Amino acid sequence: QATSISADRVPDMGKRKLMNLLLLGTIALPSAGMLYPYTFFFVPPGSGSSTSGTVAKDAVGNDVIAENWLKTHGPGDRTLTQGLKGDPTYLVVEKDRTLATYAINAVCTHLGCVVPWNTAEKKFICPCHGSQYNDQGRVVRGPAPLSLALAHCDIDDGKVVFVPWVETDFRTDEAPWWA
Ligand code: FES
Repeated sequence: QATSISADRVPDMGKRKLMNLLLLGTIALPSAGMLYPYTFFFVPPGSGSSTSGTVAKDAVGNDVIAENWLKTHGPGDRTLTQGLKGDPTYLVVEKDRTLATYAINAVCTHLGCVVPWNTAEKKFICPCHGSQYNDQGRVVRGPAPLSLALAHCDIDDGKVVFVPWVETDFRTDEAPWWA
């Protein structure tokens, strides 16, 4: 319930106090009043759509549209986008020019550097201490102890949407360490 000035208390107050209250009310009331409808506008209750997904953002912060992305990113491409929780996340283009159904979190499992894709080596190679990951992000050389985290990569209404990956890691057949 939004706070409001209770009218019956006003007559007891000194002029200065009243002025302060009114001033506060001018600031507080509109923001409280505006927040409420906005929250429900953006998060409609019980809309039934997947709520855990996050639309991928490109380097300049625009939503990634799958069709456009595939026009400019060829087979084998791995390019960073902004993913779940803002983590740098690679979109993977398969050989058949479709988007892979998984995306790769670029945060090195050693000490957290962002790992660049090396096109020539077809590996992710960490510049910090030399850890290497294969083209699916599976660790192939330490000191990194674990493979790069995965996210599901779905297409919803033409947009690329990341959803947390909580299932078995298909690269290792192990439970996901990041979930
Ligand atoms: Fe990547 Fe150390 S942070 S190898």
